Amino acid sequence: MGTKEKLLSLFEEQKGTYFSGEEIAEKLSVSRTAVWKAVKNLRSEGYEIDAVPNKGYCLSVHTDILSAQGIQKYLNPTCGALELHVLPEVGSTNTLLREKANAGAAEGCTVIANAQTEGRGRMGRSFYSPTDTGIYMSLLLRPAAFTPVQAMGLTTMAAVAACEAIEEVSGKQAQIKWVNDIYMDGKKVSGILTEAALGLENGSLEYVVLGIGINVYPPKEGFPQEISQIAGAIFPERQNDGKNHLAAAFLNHFMEYYEGKKSADYVEKYRERSMVVGKEIYVRSPDGEKKAMALDVDQACYLLVRYEDGSIERLSSGEISIRF
Ligand code: BTN
Repeated sequence: MGTKEKLLSLFEEQKGTYFSGEEIAEKLSVSRTAVWKAVKNLRSEGYEIDAVPNKGYCLSVHTDILSAQGIQKYLNPTCGALELHVLPEVGSTNTLLREKANAGAAEGCTVIANAQTEGRGRMGRSFYSPTDTGIYMSLLLRPAAFTPVQAMGLTTMAAVAACEAIEEVSGKQAQIKWVNDIYMDGKKVSGILTEAALGLENGSLEYVVLGIGINVYPPKEGFPQEISQIAGAIFPERQNDGKNHLAAAFLNHFMEYYEGKKSADYVEKYRERSMVVGKEIYVRSPDGEKKAMALDVDQACYLLVRYEDGSIERLSSGEISIRF
């Protein structure tokens, strides 16, 4: 770790606390000049660092920049094996992580970006990923004993973990629109894209890349017109550590389910947060939309629907819409 990274750890651990240049130099075992250069570098990356004569330097509580150090301070021991790579901008964190996985990266490798230029969503759609206002994160899993079908449960775990993280950090309720879109106050604030790689020879599961995008704040210019009716953000304005705290809270909740540390049934928690059960919905297919009643989400997270002609279908995946 370089001086800049060490200084960021110190600042993030005690945000809002002043440290004299001498104190920092001693703690990091570097010269005062090295401290001064590291402060300058952090400032050039957007960190608000106050400097007050006779008090020293302090990372302002108004700074909310995603960083490994900022996330680390909120992580539980269950996340001890995660290796965080936080980058200013990537094409797609899922694509980058798949490349890393194909090159042999270990379970727990996590790519987090502050912006994506080619963020991908489900059904071949793009995922709007503007700079500074969201979390774009992909986590590599190599669940040795899972079948591809069991791996589908990972998306369910992720949807529940996302709701729990949002509720923990914002204090507001989040809901799940089947299959895995997270909504708050009728607007989509988060989406999940899980991609699996299967072994060519026996079809076994090689790895899973679990990608999640979270709109933490509204984009500076607002959401693009084509998604402005659907997309929303968790907070109307900046919070102290909003992004780092949320990213860590998601990893904490998800890893507890994944490691089997949470005894509670995540499918039941998924059901409790379902915003479609009991509602009239439209099931989309290549032939168009069909009106149906959403009856239940079963143990495998399939959606049971009854069409207007009385026929019942169990949907494993796909696209539905609700008219509010
Ligand atoms: C959806 O809503 O359709 C799913 C969106 C998933 C977006 C996340 S952002 C991080 C990861 N990288 C991507 O390119 N996509 C996922």
